[in-house]
Amino acid sequence: MAKTKTVYYCQNCGYQSVKMLGKCPACGEWNTFVEEIVSKTDENKRGIKKREHKLLPKAITEIVRSEEDRINTHSLELNRVLGGGLVQGSVVLIGGEPGIGKSTLLLQVAMNMTGLRILYVSGEESYRQIKMRADRLGVLNENCFILNETLTTDIFKHINELQPDILIIDSIQTLYTDTLESSPGSISQIRETAAELQRFAKSANVAVFLIGHITKDGNLAGPKVLEHMVDTVLQFEGDRHYGFRILRSVKNRFGSASELGIFEMQANGLREVLNPSEILLSQRDEELSGVAIAAMLEGQRPMLIETQALAASATYGTPQRSTTGFDLRRMNMLLAVLEKRSGFRLGTKDVFLNIAGGIRVDDPAIDLAIVAAVLSSLEDIPVSNNVCFAAEVGLSGEIRAVTRIESRIYEAEKLGFEKIIISKFNLKGLDEKNHKIEIVAVSKIKNVVDVLF
Ligand code: TYD
Ligand code: MG
Repeated sequence: MAKTKTVYYCQNCGYQSVKMLGKCPACGEWNTFVEEIVSKTDENKRGIKKREHKLLPKAITEIVRSEEDRINTHSLELNRVLGGGLVQGSVVLIGGEPGIGKSTLLLQVAMNMTGLRILYVSGEESYRQIKMRADRLGVLNENCFILNETLTTDIFKHINELQPDILIIDSIQTLYTDTLESSPGSISQIRETAAELQRFAKSANVAVFLIGHITKDGNLAGPKVLEHMVDTVLQFEGDRHYGFRILRSVKNRFGSASELGIFEMQANGLREVLNPSEILLSQRDEELSGVAIAAMLEGQRPMLIETQALAASATYGTPQRSTTGFDLRRMNMLLAVLEKRSGFRLGTKDVFLNIAGGIRVDDPAIDLAIVAAVLSSLEDIPVSNNVCFAAEVGLSGEIRAVTRIESRIYEAEKLGFEKIIISKFNLKGLDEKNHKIEIVAVSKIKNVVDVLF
């Protein structure tokens, strides 16, 4: 007979407790415990079934690996983020805020992978809604099947009949298994259904995409265990007011975890952006003050991006500082360095900073461009259109070296820039004769001012 058992789960990290707790001992969050009823049936203890045949240990030299184990998704950007294509038998989790385009991305991928049998399980949208979306995308794949189902046992029944090559689940939060009594979307359900799908992927050697929702604070809804269970975690992000979407790999057992793909949401689906710099540099014919271009790296990809600053006298007592796409504290730090090391008075100025294109930047190499943009706005002297920057600024006003300077220089050169300003410490090992672009090396904030104006 089935026993019912109550367990308390932290909704933030999935920590399990037999009694209600105020503060989670694992992640330190408050009031995150929720009671969930777990019914244990005899044949299924937390979903772990007895294996029919034992797997024996194998010598690593005996294990054969087939070369064609990567599936081409027909999307260059997605292939890149996955590390060169989709690995058979792997589980890929795609997380993102509602409305960012997760369903669109995977449906589009499903429509383009002709020749493969795909099962798209949707617990969120009806057949007609999905068909409407597919019509919008403009391509239909006759080998793509849609299923409106949320109970995993039924899903597996259909999988057995259909024998798909690729399974897409939209979304993991809507699925439930009847071995548990808690409601869909609860930690124990997410954990259990994901575990069932993971076992299926490995045993049937079918690639599985899971769509996952994201909480307000940007974490994947559901326990951290979900991230541990899957092979690859991709984050789909972007500013909803701009069309650009970034697909970032956060974890990847089969490739680099810092790859990045860029898409643009259009009326007929997502377009791949193969040359990101083109869209991140705003089109302007005259030189404006307060604008500087940074040669930065996102993941492994070099791209040039525009930073815009506005420094104006504060009308009210306390000056305002605000940033879009950049860490506010870091900007305040840069402003303090600028004030202390170059004598510019910024204490009474409002400073606003914007990174073009709605992109968020963490690469420290953007520092120098930000400093240049602020100085340019302050002095109301434009920085030439043909100049770009790639260096970090340290607390004592020193200009620091950045990683992979060669690829930044190549990208700048490719886009027709005539001068790049870098740190003196990046010159080591750099063969300037290889480059047509003029390379200016600086070591202190003071030198930057001299170079600029
Ligand atoms: P959707 O894929 O439903 O997001 P998610 O699954 O992440 O919640 O994305 C929907 C948004 O994208 C919606 O606001 C409409 C827009 N969209 C387009 O702009 N063009 C299109 O071709 C499609 C299908 C959607
Ligand atoms: Mg969706």
